[in-house]
Amino acid sequence: MLQATNVSLRYGDKKLFEDVNIKFTPGNCYGLIGANGAGKSTFLKILSGEIEPQTGHVSLGKGERLAVLKQDHFAYEEYPVLQTVIMGHTRLYEVMQEKDAIYMKSEFSEEDGMRAAELEGEFAEMNGWEAESDAAVLLKGLGIDESAHDKKMADLSGAEKVKVLLAQALFGSPDILLLDEPTNHLDIQAIQWLEEFLINFENTVIVVSHDRHFLNKVCTHIADVDYGKIELYVGNYDFWYESSQLALQMAQDANKKKEEKIKELQNFIARFSANASKSKQATSRKKMLDNITLDDIKPSSRRYPYVAFNPGREIGNDLLRVEGISKTIDGEKVLDNVSFTLNRNDKVAFVGKDEIAKTTLFQILMGEMEPDEGSYTWGVTTSQSYFPKDNSKFFDGSNMTLVEWLRQYSPEDQTETFLRGFLGRMLFSGEEALKKANVLSGGEKVRCMLSKMMLSQANVLVLDEPTNHLDLESITSLNNGLIKFKGSILFTSHDQQFINSIANRLIEITPKGIVDKEISYDEYVADQKLQKEIASMYA
Ligand SMILES: Nc1ncnc2c1ncn2[C@@H]1O[C@H](COP(=O)(O)OP(=O)(O)OP(=O)(O)O)[C@@H](O)[C@H]1O
Ligand SMILES: [Mg+2]
Repeated sequence: MLQATNVSLRYGDKKLFEDVNIKFTPGNCYGLIGANGAGKSTFLKILSGEIEPQTGHVSLGKGERLAVLKQDHFAYEEYPVLQTVIMGHTRLYEVMQEKDAIYMKSEFSEEDGMRAAELEGEFAEMNGWEAESDAAVLLKGLGIDESAHDKKMADLSGAEKVKVLLAQALFGSPDILLLDEPTNHLDIQAIQWLEEFLINFENTVIVVSHDRHFLNKVCTHIADVDYGKIELYVGNYDFWYESSQLALQMAQDANKKKEEKIKELQNFIARFSANASKSKQATSRKKMLDNITLDDIKPSSRRYPYVAFNPGREIGNDLLRVEGISKTIDGEKVLDNVSFTLNRNDKVAFVGKDEIAKTTLFQILMGEMEPDEGSYTWGVTTSQSYFPKDNSKFFDGSNMTLVEWLRQYSPEDQTETFLRGFLGRMLFSGEEALKKANVLSGGEKVRCMLSKMMLSQANVLVLDEPTNHLDLESITSLNNGLIKFKGSILFTSHDQQFINSIANRLIEITPKGIVDKEISYDEYVADQKLQKEIASMYA
């Protein structure tokens, strides 16, 4: 059993947790929910011991093990798959590293020999010799083929990456599994797979997610992070939503009654306090009045950012011409002779099963990668702004405040007033605008990337999975901002509603060429003849 007792944590003015008490019992699946920046990832870090709370403590049942799948799925890009899994057993991995370092030495002292023997002992005790085969079995169970074991994490698709990270977390059979937004970067099939996996997983799961359907499927409990507290509800997400709305309604009704009572008492006091014979009564009524307090009604701190992209100039006749682009990565042909021409006003969703193909195409079009063959030409009147799937390079290790960070992307107006106004609309106000870029939560980073894009005044937006990490309110704002945008858009998303409401054209990249249709996503999916044809292109 995992328990947090009187846990408090604050960063500057921001109170993330105040005297939080919560118990997680075996066999349950807890959905940890809350707005971007509410403190969900931080709370998982407190539970796993990565961060010390300022007050209180966390206790874990005797002999129980806890494992984590973190929100950043790009943290192991440089490591091979099998090694990434083994890193899940921290101590074993440390021993392996130290052992290897000693054996690599050209001169081997007596001391080294003793240390190596010590490490070998510990290694054997932890079943170290079986680590690789154990990891391989686990990967196989999760559907990762043996041919992928030596690949770098960077070369895997999002769904494969999550499976490897899950294997890492499961390596060493944890009693408690903490998952931070595991469905980001997953397609529908992979999400369904994960749902099944979690439903059948017998130990305790605590999972952070913004995906309502997913939460409804897997959760037995919902833990809502808001105003420094964590409220626990039994049931799935819909049940939490209904009951929290009801509780709010009841609190509002109760307050209305109290307000009426207060008014009545105030009137009484006003009328009679001047009248000597009744003044005693009036005083006691006044006392009563003092005792009535209106419960603070806190509807929820979830808020909508303001997302609006304004192109600096109109796009002329030509938007983009792509001619015969091919690209092979790691011996696999990812793009095979891809050609298409886009026109202004096109809002194109790139769909299809191969996520790496879509991302590679965007990277080529944004000049981050060279095609092996073929070429592309952007219209002379176009300017592009890019939202890459992995934004870590913009934030990792950055010591800048948010104002400084944003200033880099604001050539025209560099004043603090302007930048703060901008940040305020993206929900960073007051002291929040002065925090460091590298402490941002997943959703906060996305809000900053969107601010950067808004400042660019580009007339073409290229967005690779922009809804990952965002809470519902922010997804809605982004969705509306993209619908209203007067320029052109090239994007990918696994959110069907998002695609359907924005795209007026679909391009599907299949192994046997592209499908290109100027229709809505709903029409695309409903066209059975077309879908049959497409299915044959994957066969
Ligand atoms: N060292 C720090 N100094 C100041 N603020 C911090 C620090 N670390 C985290 N924060 C802030 O604490 C808040 C909580 O961050 P956390 O990553 O836990 O949010 P989250 O609920 O997981 O959000 P998301 O849904 O976007 O992932 C954020 O506003 C973040 O900017
Ligand atoms: Mg988070």
